[in-house]
Amino acid sequence: MGVGRIDLRCDVGALVTPGVFPFPGTLGPRPDGYSAGVVSELNLILFGPPGAGKGTQAERLRKDFQVPYIATGDMLRAHVKDGTPLGQEAKRYMDAGDLVPDELILAMVRDRLERDDAQDGFLLDGFPRTREQAEALEEQLRSLGRRITAVLLLEVPDAEVVRRLSGRRVCVKGGHNYHVEFDPPKHEGVCDQDGSRLVQRDDDKPDVIENRLRVYHEKTAPVVDYYDERGLLRRIDGTREAADVHDHIRAVIATLRLEEDF
Ligand code: AP5
Repeated sequence: MGVGRIDLRCDVGALVTPGVFPFPGTLGPRPDGYSAGVVSELNLILFGPPGAGKGTQAERLRKDFQVPYIATGDMLRAHVKDGTPLGQEAKRYMDAGDLVPDELILAMVRDRLERDDAQDGFLLDGFPRTREQAEALEEQLRSLGRRITAVLLLEVPDAEVVRRLSGRRVCVKGGHNYHVEFDPPKHEGVCDQDGSRLVQRDDDKPDVIENRLRVYHEKTAPVVDYYDERGLLRRIDGTREAADVHDHIRAVIATLRLEEDF
């Protein structure tokens, strides 16, 4: 059984209690001897405006499920850092807060999803961002007999997005997220987790944030309807505390399991 396959039978009540999540990723024998025998892939998409908390939640969900985390923004920033042809092409779009063209993104994600570690599940963040990307993903998965489990939409109003992004700081080494007001590090400017320097992302400057929001509403928000029509959309109140948002997501996933199979 692959790491992203999880026990479908679970106690929803237990899931919303922090620290007692019954299936943290790989299914091992349960201490109570329970054996379900019914498994499914967990193919999740974290969706929402810039700054909704997708990366923050992904960090928590990765610990729960141990599925590979595939964040197109992180992948692109790695290409920029390494100076690859893709990175050189993508940089000007990213710096302006515009979307990188579909053909570049699609090739990058297609390759990533073909890797061995993504065969039993994945957690996508920042993709798809256009209807074309959503259709391409659906087609790739369908050709492999796979499908999306759920699209988790973190709903946060624009004013909150601006507050979050303008105060965000990220560490240069591991990309860990902080916020000067809501989630400050223990020592100013230093990552709690790896001791590296904290910086502001180039696209977290006010004029770029404004454009990223405009682009989100124009090109990405319509993808919400695409997934809603397919019954895959789950709405999450992203304005709550990060821990509460996390609990809500876990409960949603547990409920999905129960609805799907029993
Ligand atoms: P990307 O890196 O994907 O950026 P994004 O979608 O704009 O998302 P962010 O990383 O800014 O926000 P987030 O939702 O992860 O929030 P976070 O958890 O950090 O994309 C960057 C660029 O790459 C794009 O503009 C585009 O150019 C290009 N690109 C990427 N994918 C593409 C694609 N598919 N197609 C085309 N182009 C693509 O949280 C933000 C802050 O809020 C943090 O400081 C955090 O501490 C704080 N916070 C989080 N949750 C809470 C909470 N509940 N309460 C209070 N504060 C919170």
